[in-house]
Amino acid sequence: MNAKILVFSGSLRTGSYNTQLAKAAIKILSAEGAEVTEITLADYPLPILDADLLENDGAPENAVKLAQLFQVHDGLFIACPEYNSSIPPLLKNVLDWVSVTKSDGTHDLKPYAGLTVALGSASPGALGGIRGLYHVRSVLMNVGTQIITEQCSVANAGKSFAEDGMPSDERTLSLLKKTCRSLLERVTVGRGRV
Ligand code: FNR
Repeated sequence: MNAKILVFSGSLRTGSYNTQLAKAAIKILSAEGAEVTEITLADYPLPILDADLLENDGAPENAVKLAQLFQVHDGLFIACPEYNSSIPPLLKNVLDWVSVTKSDGTHDLKPYAGLTVALGSASPGALGGIRGLYHVRSVLMNVGTQIITEQCSVANAGKSFAEDGMPSDERTLSLLKKTCRSLLERVTVGRGRV
């Protein structure tokens, strides 16, 4: 059974560097034999989480869809921008909504249980958004995922992707490969399908 990996970018921006990084990760994960699902968060718009919304109306349909997607995959690869040294609101809102989505109306959902996550970031800045990943990691630890140690940050992202879509710097490319391989080594294959 191949590992099922869900990949998405934490940016909706046209021309997003993080979406480029997500696509580079997909190439590597697919070459390593993973069954990859790519989504864009643009397809799952959500209101800003307000506990009144949850209490009065339950989780929105898109939160349920995302929770189901998290649940049926063995691992995630998230490529995420850094906003003011931290996690951007889009991703935080998604992770929060999924954390409070406990049922799809018929079945109980445990979207984070046993899920393994790998992280990447890209930024036009010299640090590649690496400071934000600390905060993303902290949120994902809090909800109970297993996060792999390796991560890949692409600095000076406007000029750091080659024509083939991969990071042009050899060290960065090697780190991205290491991160993807480590994710595949650590996932519990089939966890979402038992
Ligand atoms: C940024 N950006 C940014 N970059 C960075 O390296 N460190 C930071 O702390 C921030 N802070 C920040 C805050 C806000 C509100 C915005 C809108 C942007 C710049 C950011 O890295 C840049 O816009 C990237 O292009 C965002 O990623 P995508 O959209 O290209 O994937």
